[in-house]
Amino acid sequence: VTDLAPPRGTRDFYPDDLRLRSWLFERFRSTALAFGFEEVDAPIVEHAELYMRKAGEEIVEQLYHFQLHERHLALRPELTPSLARMVIARQGALRLPLRWFAIPQCWRYERMTRGRRREHYQWNMDVWGEPDVTAEAELIAAIFHALDQLGLAKGDVRMRLNHRALLEESLRATVLARRPEAFAPLCVIVDKLPKLGRDAVIEQLTDPAHAVQLERSEAEAVVAQLEAKGLDEAARLAGAESPALAQLRRLFDLLDAYGVADRVGFDASVVRGLAYYTGVVFEAFDAAGELRAVCGGGRYDRLLETLGGRPLPAVGFGFGDAVISELLAERGKLPQPARALDAVVFPLGEEERALAIRVARALRRRGETVELVLGALKPKRVFADANKAGARHVYMIGPDERARGVVRVKDLATEAQRDEPLATLDEVIT
Ligand code: HAM
Repeated sequence: VTDLAPPRGTRDFYPDDLRLRSWLFERFRSTALAFGFEEVDAPIVEHAELYMRKAGEEIVEQLYHFQLHERHLALRPELTPSLARMVIARQGALRLPLRWFAIPQCWRYERMTRGRRREHYQWNMDVWGEPDVTAEAELIAAIFHALDQLGLAKGDVRMRLNHRALLEESLRATVLARRPEAFAPLCVIVDKLPKLGRDAVIEQLTDPAHAVQLERSEAEAVVAQLEAKGLDEAARLAGAESPALAQLRRLFDLLDAYGVADRVGFDASVVRGLAYYTGVVFEAFDAAGELRAVCGGGRYDRLLETLGGRPLPAVGFGFGDAVISELLAERGKLPQPARALDAVVFPLGEEERALAIRVARALRRRGETVELVLGALKPKRVFADANKAGARHVYMIGPDERARGVVRVKDLATEAQRDEPLATLDEVIT
């Protein structure tokens, strides 16, 4: 027999679920629009090759992919490579900096844990063509704007922020001088520090079979840098001349101007698990630290080159629907959006159906949302349904109303009733 449950890790959206999803997306969308971003989308199926990076990222191992008519295709696990493809296709014709947002459904064959599923919707905002941290600041401010719009309190979510170049600078004279390509896989490994612990990370960094192959002392220095407590210690390790450090300081000044600096903290252990990041990286978490990241992003100034485009700096973030929903539910902030139904139109018998259709047409033309009763229902049932649906009015037509050329309008909140001439409604549709 057919398994009627949706595939593990995926969801059906019944009307209540979809209303909630729309409520969330509206806040994502209105935030992005408030920051002057334009909405884009791309196919959910892409050439698998677009995602086949070789740095050992989880996201590549979790790809839903398949062969079809000689083509190797994949469901998108994230949007960023599609955006890169879109930018490359029109590079030269696009007015920079680009400010794009999207709310794609993404697919990853994850091990299921709280807040992790095999499909999720991910709000993205990306700026292409701006090398300065003014772009990072704008994006981080947008994230907090959205969190405020969702009704969370200022202390509910905190952002942790780091700069990958702090690490890159410190390795430039040694490991990266020999093998610059080791940096991306190195980041992918050290991203797992909280999960794997110090020893396992050092082991992987020094594994002669792996792409990174650090000396033990180098690996220890990397881990020490990730364990730096605060910006001052990081500064001591990085040296006063570090450009990455200067950018971080400038970013914090900008965040102060946006009024969000107190919700963001430097954290040397934030590296992120995607290979393409090159600069500032950030992740936001619930203050209690119980859930996975609410959102994450960073600068990826070299992604376009790796896909065959001309160099173009870029920075952005992805913000999933799953963790934020858990957090909102925990804080009692998930609304129960009602159906936005204005009216129910109810013909008491089939003789009144044509008139009822005229009433429904007129109301719909006026812009109202109207449910027309389709079968032969008892008034009790119609009123119960209309109340449940949150309708404001029921328009009834029986033989008496038909004879008098009116429709009976009942206001469900006040129970007041009045007659409205069919002629006035007809004016709307003729
Ligand atoms: P990511 O950190 O892989 O980054 O995902 C971003 C966010 O998407 C996560 O913080 C989380 O909210 C949500 N998310 C990811 N995977 C899952 C999952 N399996 N279940 C539920 N939610 C999930 C990226 O994907 C980057 N492309 C973001 C980006 C855009 N960077 C620059 N621009």
